[in-house]
Amino acid sequence: MSRKTLNIGLFGFGCVGQGLYEVLEKTPTLQARIHRICVKDPNKQRSLPDERFTFEPSDILNDPSINTVVELIDDSEAAYQLVKRALKVGKSVVSANKKMIAEHFEELIALQQETGAALLYEAAVCASIPIIRNLEEYYDNDLLEHIEGIVNGSTNYILTKTERDNLSPQAALEQAQALGYAESNPAMDVEGYDAKFKLVLLLGHAFGTLVNPKDVFQLGIDRLGSLELEYAREKSLKVKLVAVAQRQANGQISALVMPKFVSADDPLYSVDDVFNGVKTKTHFSDAQFFAGRGAGAYPTASAVISDISALSYDYKYEYKKRKFLVPATLSEQVQVKVLFRFRGLSVAEVSRHFDAVSETFQSNPESYVIGITDLKRLQFLLQTPWANASAVLFEIVESHL
Ligand code: HSE
Repeated sequence: MSRKTLNIGLFGFGCVGQGLYEVLEKTPTLQARIHRICVKDPNKQRSLPDERFTFEPSDILNDPSINTVVELIDDSEAAYQLVKRALKVGKSVVSANKKMIAEHFEELIALQQETGAALLYEAAVCASIPIIRNLEEYYDNDLLEHIEGIVNGSTNYILTKTERDNLSPQAALEQAQALGYAESNPAMDVEGYDAKFKLVLLLGHAFGTLVNPKDVFQLGIDRLGSLELEYAREKSLKVKLVAVAQRQANGQISALVMPKFVSADDPLYSVDDVFNGVKTKTHFSDAQFFAGRGAGAYPTASAVISDISALSYDYKYEYKKRKFLVPATLSEQVQVKVLFRFRGLSVAEVSRHFDAVSETFQSNPESYVIGITDLKRLQFLLQTPWANASAVLFEIVESHL
């Protein structure tokens, strides 16, 4: 197969952009060079000569010699406008912007089909783990039943540092920021938004299901407290922020992002620090597990390079599960076994919102109920203003009956 030479216009020269520049310099097999770099701040000191930079997006988008756009900027709205313009003028795009893609997924798929230009985004999910390409290409016939992963490096780093090394969550977050793992607004990481955007992309490629991120249940690690962490320690479990999607018996998909108790026989148990891990379960090949660095300049740049390389062979996502199957819809009725921790309410009051209760602990100031409820009632309980509540998942359950 012949390989196209790629002339790249790069948007953004932050942590990942600079990592990409360095990695490209060290990848002689790739016929790709960065022709121009568009940045926002004219006053910032940069490591390359001034003539490599522009502040005007049109210098890239209107340059006919540039056939590939790599978008690595922080502002997801600006990224959306740039990516749309690039696809409309027939330039293929590589992006790592999970928020932008998750919020405009359907439109961006349609735009690729209309224009024939490709949008690749392996770096947007789990950085160095080639999960999107696997879901798209390898699992195109053997249908997926379950996908579950630690998909955010910063929160996994924070959980590891607090649980294993006794660091405070704030000190661990500051380390994650210094190491270039965290989003510029770290609430995106700790409140579970980043993991949810990644789950939206996984849902598209795993099941052909396109969802509005707002419709996916999300609970971050910011509300975790010492009681549930102590519970985990006593039972030799770890708490991990997971993104899960699984096919129900009725064909619909259950999806959520929340902290989960993970036992030592689960491959996710050993996924620590900035690492991410993804488990898949398919009809024929059964369980598989992928692991790798989930954030940071070089691991993210390596996924961008892989997409650039794929573009040189004219690769496009076909969105096969949308093309050949009737995509499953997101279930509104998802039952979960959880530990729900709260204050200012009685165990009896809380238990009324559960279908089955297996353990309770009533104390002052904090109590918990372990049992089976559904995501709607859990959301309601979590929103009780004075309860300062949190929840940790044991498992998604099909039915408690
Ligand atoms: N902030 C993200 C994370 C970066 O920590 O996983 C990689 O997507």
